[in-house]
Amino acid sequence: MEILSNAEQLTIDTILDGIAPEPAQPVDGRNDNRLKSDRDMRMLNKKITSILENMSDGFFIIDQKCRFIYLNAAAERFCSEKKESLLGTSIWGKFPRSVYPPFYKYFQKAVLNQSSENFEMYYPEKHKWLEININPFKVGVSFYFRDISERKQFEAEMFRQDRLNLIGQMAAGLGHEIRNPLTTVRGFLQLLSEKSSCLQYKEFFSLMIGELDRANTIITEFLSLDKDRVIKLKMNNINRIIEAILPLISADADENRINININLAEVPDILVDEKEICQLILNLARNGFEAMAAGGELSIGTYAENDEVILSVRDQGGGIADDILEKLGTPFFTTKDNGTGLGLAVCYSIAIRHGAKINVETGAAGTTFFVRFKQKI
Ligand SMILES: Nc1ncnc2c1ncn2[C@@H]1O[C@H](COP(=O)(O)OP(=O)(O)O)[C@@H](O)[C@H]1O
Ligand SMILES: [Mg+2]
Repeated sequence: MEILSNAEQLTIDTILDGIAPEPAQPVDGRNDNRLKSDRDMRMLNKKITSILENMSDGFFIIDQKCRFIYLNAAAERFCSEKKESLLGTSIWGKFPRSVYPPFYKYFQKAVLNQSSENFEMYYPEKHKWLEININPFKVGVSFYFRDISERKQFEAEMFRQDRLNLIGQMAAGLGHEIRNPLTTVRGFLQLLSEKSSCLQYKEFFSLMIGELDRANTIITEFLSLDKDRVIKLKMNNINRIIEAILPLISADADENRINININLAEVPDILVDEKEICQLILNLARNGFEAMAAGGELSIGTYAENDEVILSVRDQGGGIADDILEKLGTPFFTTKDNGTGLGLAVCYSIAIRHGAKINVETGAAGTTFFVRFKQKI
């Protein structure tokens, strides 16, 4: 396989010259022509090309003018563009400096110091985390990159579960202690507000009761973060659950002037706690409503894929920025003035109790939350 564009003056031999260590000088001063013999070089070229072309990690080389002079098959796939149209073009067309500042920063560092640089970078266009190695050599710079999204996702999931466990334990211990006295106070306020001597303060009483009710709602949500919460798992069909709470979602949608689009494919029954799944769907739907302006559309869908039943909730909001994406599910994390920051934490907690996974796809056209339930748990 031809490794370099014919248009370029560089050959794989020159590149190898740049990469390979200088051959040791023989003692008697004669040139050691063993490795450099044409046949050896051709064999080595073939071998390296075949390794590069068959590996799942991406690899490309640019010349001193930052033009692609080689891309392996994985890099070609990653760029979603044919090698032929990329060769000879500048990498800054593919990775604009302003869009990928870390990439440019490490590239600059590697070239200035003539050092090899290793770093991790989020590549938003493909929603992927990459581990990148930049290696300058005599006639250009090589880039090696590996998709580490799965590892990153796993780490984030562990981190999220740790946080949830900690808060969940707190919830279990504290929630009831706070809720009980609140209920007593609320009862007395209600009683007093009805006394004729207190009628002039009626407005204050209803304000206090309203605030207590809000606190109670938050505490109830907080309580559902308890990971050891007892849930009632029963074989049920998620489509039926969606249909049952549809009136509630529609009422919310009407209030926000959002259209609802329901797309339910036939899915097998799974073991779920109906109440918890209602809560999960409502929380995701509410976030969707809150992310959109009036006139937007919220789509709720289900489908079966491999051994999973998947629930998806898609909105047409402005999407979620990367720094916020990392924090999703952290209890009390909110970007809203009136938010509690508990909605998603509860969703993740419910998902954990059901052995389900939550994935998010987000972009300028909106956000989709996928909840993936195993068909047999
Ligand atoms: N569909 C969505 N679109 C955009 N941002 C979202 C969406 N869902 C969640 N978020 C972000 O995640 C944060 C946490 O959500 P959540 O836990 O439900 O708490 P709250 O809704 O009370 O803020 C939100 O404040 C918002 O920034
Ligand atoms: Mg919410």
